[in-house]
This record gives sequence, structure tokens and C-alpha cells, in this order.
Amino acid sequence: MSQPVVVDSVAALRAQIRDWRRDGLRVAMVPTMGALHDGHISLVRIALQKAERCVVSIFVNPTQFAPSEDLDKYPRQLARDLDQLGAAKADLAFTPTVGEMYPAGFATKISVGGPSAGLESDFRPTFFDGVATVVAKLLLQATPDCAVFGEKDYQQ
Ligand code: PAF
Repeated sequence: MSQPVVVDSVAALRAQIRDWRRDGLRVAMVPTMGALHDGHISLVRIALQKAERCVVSIFVNPTQFAPSEDLDKYPRQLARDLDQLGAAKADLAFTPTVGEMYPAGFATKISVGGPSAGLESDFRPTFFDGVATVVAKLLLQATPDCAVFGEKDYQQ
């Protein structure tokens, strides 16, 4: 079964996207934390209707987990994810390490006011900052023409 190209550095991600752009191709991005299921694959299909190339990021983002939440227990199944992405004809999987996303000395975060105040934030005070920060980073790294997200819970 064919698999997407896999890159784990921002430099390699940017190089591939630059090549596609040079060829006049549009790029759609689907941010995920892996453990892909049919819902994610439906996002890849939508992405490929909107652009000629689809990048899927697979990154279990530590900053959206509270210390009390078990980051280590989050399912990781990269080989299976890549098989599914290959079958769905995604072009590239971006699988950065934590060090690539949050290098030593990383000190910037995005804090979204308004809708992220209260409700779930009362119980998970770092969650929305973590999601907003990593999504902003992914979008700046890939600079896609569009991004496709699943339907989230009400507040997200
Ligand atoms: O919903 C998710 O899977 C994650 O919160 C996201 C948007 C990929 C950011 O880590």
C-alpha cells in the first residue's frame, strides 16, 4: 500500500510545500494528534476536494494536557495511521518531535479570550491555550491554503 511522504522537521515540511507551490498546487492541512479514525479520513477527503495536496500533521501536543492528564497514555499508532493516510491519498505526514515543536527556550503562547473563558477552562485551565498555540504553530510552519478541522465540542 502506498504511504504518504513522512517528514519530521519544519525545514523538510517547508521545502516540500515550497516545491508544490512552485508547481502551482494548492495545499490543505489537517491537524491531528494521530490515532486516526474514519472521522479524520473524512477530513482528508474534504481537504483533497479543496486542494491538490494534503498535509496531515500527527503530533500529540503536550501543552494541551494538564499535569493530571496522562499524556503518555494517549494512543500512538503511527504505522497504522500512515497506512490509513496512504489509502486516503494524503500526500504528506508531518510527524514532528516535541523538541521540534517546542525547542529549548520556547516561551511564546497564544491565549484566546472570549469563548475559551469559563466552562471547560475552569477544569482544564491550560487546554485552550495549548490547542491555540500548537495550531498557530502548525499553520505558520505549513502556511497551507486552507485547513480542515473536525467538528469539536461546543466550546472548542
Ligand atoms: O483536536 C485535536 O485533535 C487537537 O486538539 C488538535 C487540533 C490537532 C491540536 O493538537
